[in-house]
Amino acid sequence: MSPRARREMLASTETVDGGGADEPVPRAVDPVGAPVDEVEEAGLRPRTLEEFVGQSQLVEHLGIVLQAARRRRQPVDHLLFAGPPGLGKTSLAGIVAAEMGVGFRVTSGPVLARAGDLAALLTDLQEGDVLFIDEIHRLHHSVEEILYPAMEDAKLDILIGKGPTARSIRLDLPRFTLIGATTRTGLVAGPLRDRFGFVGRLDLYDPVELQTIVERSARILGVAVDGPGAARIAERSRGTPRVANRLLRRVRDFVEVRGDGVITGVSAEEGLVLFGVDELGLDKVDRAILDALCRRFNGQPVGLTTLSQCIGEEPDTLEDAYEPFLLQQGLIQRTPRGRVATQRAWDHLGHTPDGPALF
Ligand SMILES: Nc1ncnc2c1ncn2[C@@H]1O[C@H](COP(=O)(O)OP(=O)(O)OP(=O)(O)O)[C@@H](O)[C@H]1O
Ligand SMILES: [Mg+2]
Repeated sequence: MSPRARREMLASTETVDGGGADEPVPRAVDPVGAPVDEVEEAGLRPRTLEEFVGQSQLVEHLGIVLQAARRRRQPVDHLLFAGPPGLGKTSLAGIVAAEMGVGFRVTSGPVLARAGDLAALLTDLQEGDVLFIDEIHRLHHSVEEILYPAMEDAKLDILIGKGPTARSIRLDLPRFTLIGATTRTGLVAGPLRDRFGFVGRLDLYDPVELQTIVERSARILGVAVDGPGAARIAERSRGTPRVANRLLRRVRDFVEVRGDGVITGVSAEEGLVLFGVDELGLDKVDRAILDALCRRFNGQPVGLTTLSQCIGEEPDTLEDAYEPFLLQQGLIQRTPRGRVATQRAWDHLGHTPDGPALF
């Protein structure tokens, strides 16, 4: 394939060197994308394992895997990162490439529509490169099949011609590391999952870790925040660094316009209330879910599809982005007959009138 044809095929994917990429796909819980926020968010990504806060066991395991690969002078084994949106899967993939000193190619399952798209990417890799496929559970089956020999033997099988004269040729690929990210491990096909040498699961962060992330982000953004201010933001971040960074930016706006530019416990609290984030960090959609379960369905179990229609969100979004936190907080339960609100949800709604929500 000519370099030009290859470039054109690659035009539908993102290519980034050195671990600084933002995702090519829209994200479920992100703000209604203000460009300034996007640029700032990219600057907040941790660049090394050292800078990556929390997920201590995963970071330790990954550190060992990377060090061993470096010592053997081999590419890192293929890695799969799984967990809810905004917990750091893309950041970790970039860190792996940066720590190994190799190129970082970014694409995503839905973008790779045809087998040829992936073939073009694979043949363009340099020895040792990291190929990151976000939302890998959404890969088309025909594309996925190309991946199997590529992952296992660094080979690419191409079919040339059609009908009785068609023949298959096998090309050598450079050795590379595939990193897949998914919000749904259950949806990654078994044969694909088995070909990853390491599966890292990311869990929701605790408030102390989130406070460290808020303080780090504030330093990078040049925002003055004291301990209690960072703690208030951390407590209401739904266990998610991306949400923590977003709330930090909104509270920064608030203190710049209505205060003296310093985020303290009191000003953070005021800003968060103004933007409709309640004391558990629930946003408009979280509250709509609880409200539907409690009031509309009167505490009866509700199926995912019915609930999603009622809220106006995709079932996948509810399952991936909202439920993990509500389950972790003991606000809802999953039963064989559907989702139900817990007593804690009733209590929470009872004491918190729905205010206007910004996000
Ligand atoms: N462990 C961490 N330490 C510091 N900041 C973090 C950490 N994890 C995530 N972040 C911040 O949160 C933001 C979102 O992380 P990232 O994009 O890597 O999440 P993700 O899991 O890929 O999300 P999605 O599933 O939506 O693609 C990053 O821009 C980064 O600033
Ligand atoms: Mg991502």
